[in-house]
Amino acid sequence: MVEAVKSSGLRNVVAGESSLSTIDGERGILSYRGIDIHELARHSTFEETTYLLHHGHLPRREELQAFKALLARERPIPDALLSVIRAVPRTTHPMTTLRTAVSALGGLDPDAGDDSLPAATRKGFRLAAQMATVVAAIDRVRNGRAPAAPDAQLSHAANFLYMLSGERPSDSAARAMDVALILHADHEFNASTFAARVAASTLADMHGAITAALATLKGPLHGGANEAVMQSLEEIGRPERAADWVRETLAAKRKIMGFGHAVYKTEDPRATHLREMSQRLGEETRQRKWYDVTAALEAAVRGGAKPLNPNVDLYSASLYRALGIPTDLFTPIFAVSRIAGWTAHVLEQLANNKLIRPESDYVGPRDVPYVPLEQRG
Ligand code: COA
Repeated sequence: MVEAVKSSGLRNVVAGESSLSTIDGERGILSYRGIDIHELARHSTFEETTYLLHHGHLPRREELQAFKALLARERPIPDALLSVIRAVPRTTHPMTTLRTAVSALGGLDPDAGDDSLPAATRKGFRLAAQMATVVAAIDRVRNGRAPAAPDAQLSHAANFLYMLSGERPSDSAARAMDVALILHADHEFNASTFAARVAASTLADMHGAITAALATLKGPLHGGANEAVMQSLEEIGRPERAADWVRETLAAKRKIMGFGHAVYKTEDPRATHLREMSQRLGEETRQRKWYDVTAALEAAVRGGAKPLNPNVDLYSASLYRALGIPTDLFTPIFAVSRIAGWTAHVLEQLANNKLIRPESDYVGPRDVPYVPLEQRG
């Protein structure tokens, strides 16, 4: 009999093979398909990074052109989906509406009912293109505005900002969003990706697997942390308050959102770029305040009773705020990016599938007799 390995939260368990991305938690290195995230953040685009994750290599010029055209073509969403979005109460958290919308898209997809690998691949690219359109539509509908049609001439990042605000973004805003999308696109077996792979391993359909991922991303210990960071920043209010706030929070045994990581034991390499972009965008848009509060929070945590490193969510909050994005859209933006990795992981799982089914460490009672109803005290 094989001896089962016990691990709380599956830490230090290798739960499968992947050739998409890898993290060296000790040295703070993240790479997609072997390419360092710093290189991609400096030189790549979301479209190119999505191609890289799916195809395993950087596209040649004509491959990139064709892929960009494919994503631009697949951006529109069916009118029937807008009816679903309109039916959801406006007060619903956009992550909940997004999860509902993506589930509904499964039935509206041209390949609905076809779960072959080629159809799953088409659905994956369609979803990668549509996620931004759905998020923008959710925001506009809940604000009583008509959804903006996607502009096929704009990059994925610029078009997303355009669909949100109805105005073409500045080059620096579009580039900041593009880099944020690159940085969030994949992260090996994180919770939402693993949830997608578990669903896919049962041979559930692509939209079902992505719905599972969206449900998992929402939690504040995962993607929901960027929203929770903004709430902390608002609570802190000004840089001078940061040290006291950190002391009070730790004394109350509350977690400080945007810090710590299950794998990184040093600075999350994504935080390095987000810090720099948050400062730059804050200065450009004359909204440095939230960058300043975040920097003071980082200094207070690093110098406090429990020194922790910032993770990807810490500086995303002030960056998105500088881009004029409402707080409860921060986690949906994570999904606009992570859809690239989720869909690639689902396809990787399907290409070499084995049902994911771990064991549990049963700690309940054993050999308990069944007591008939009339004899129970
Ligand atoms: N604030 C306060 N304490 C924290 C902390 C945080 N953000 N992150 C970790 N710790 C504490 C843990 O409670 C634990 O304390 P203990 O030993 O006294 O029980 C210790 O640091 C070690 O934690 P560790 O095992 O390294 O982390 P983990 O794997 O259990 O948790 C997270 C990883 C991400 C869930 C955790 O760091 C966290 O909750 N962070 C805040 C939420 C967040 O930003 N999530 C986004 C992640 S990208």
